[in-house]
Amino acid sequence: MTLLAIESSCDETSAAIIQDGRILSNIISSQWVHQQFGGVVPELSARAHLRWITGITEACFTEAGITKHDLTAIAVTYGPGLMGPLLVGVNFAKSLAYSLDIPVIPVNHIESHLYANFLDGNHPGLPFIGLIVSGGHTLIVRVDEGFIYRVLGQTRDDAAGEAFDKIAKMLGLGYPGGPQVDKLAKTGNPHFVELPRPMIHSGDFDFSFSGLKTAVKIYLNSNKELASTHINDVCASVQDAITDVLVTKTKKAAIAHGIKDIVIAGGVSANSRLRSAFNELSEKQGYRIFLPPPVLSTDNAAMVGLLAELKSANQTLQPNLELSPVPNLVI
Ligand code: KG4
Ligand code: ZN
Repeated sequence: MTLLAIESSCDETSAAIIQDGRILSNIISSQWVHQQFGGVVPELSARAHLRWITGITEACFTEAGITKHDLTAIAVTYGPGLMGPLLVGVNFAKSLAYSLDIPVIPVNHIESHLYANFLDGNHPGLPFIGLIVSGGHTLIVRVDEGFIYRVLGQTRDDAAGEAFDKIAKMLGLGYPGGPQVDKLAKTGNPHFVELPRPMIHSGDFDFSFSGLKTAVKIYLNSNKELASTHINDVCASVQDAITDVLVTKTKKAAIAHGIKDIVIAGGVSANSRLRSAFNELSEKQGYRIFLPPPVLSTDNAAMVGLLAELKSANQTLQPNLELSPVPNLVI
């Protein structure tokens, strides 16, 4: 099976070629136009996708050493995401599939993040616990056989990535803020500011990050000078608070369900502190932790293709231009 996969849900235009579980090419173009606005502007994002999608797809074919006539199907992210940007990817995929008379496979973006961990035959076993942490979502799921998902908990307000981005903005760092906080935190003291760990002891698996954001705001308002000379320490304190909550709650879910395989996914899974905290959990307490390679943590088309291939392995694909939501995961 040879798949072209397309991802355009937010500010990364990406195309990939997947063949029998291997990534032959995966090209990601990040849109820097949003930096000046401190967040993604949907209309600008849609226009940038439109400008780049054809060239990126052609480059993908060249890198993979195939042509469009070798394709079995085209996988595309249908949501969740920004409407304009999604429409660019979906219509591109549908048009190309129509011209080649091959099927389109609609893929849920959140679900696909998990499958950035399904590379080289090193799969987690079923059932597994998944922590999906991105700019728009933060949730813990239990995944059983047949791609059946149970959402165990999710954020009641901001996503973890959103908290990173908004706090970074308060600190005068650029967008996206997560990678910048991560970089500065490397030389910072995580105990410099005492920050809350919202909902860490709640009896459920939900999260809340807006109170943490407020706590940082209050701290900055009354410690302007100190904070400006200790920005690395503030970043390390913020990162530690977010990581602490994510790791503690994921571990609680794994214990409650008696599951040892934990899959971490989404943009925030690129965070170095989060990665080391989960690796520590694996070394000290015997959990099998699956973390994607950093390039597959943030949005990319390879994960879309990997999931589409797994899902279609047991189904007969028909040329189908109607995109209906995949029923298993409704978020
Ligand atoms: O999954 P993703 O690429 O896009 C969405 O689906 O939202 O996630 C983007 C989020 C942003 O909030 C970004 O700041 C965060 O992932 N992120 C990070 C790091 N790299 C990306 N957060 C913390 N540390 C990082 N190294
Ligand atoms: Zn994403």
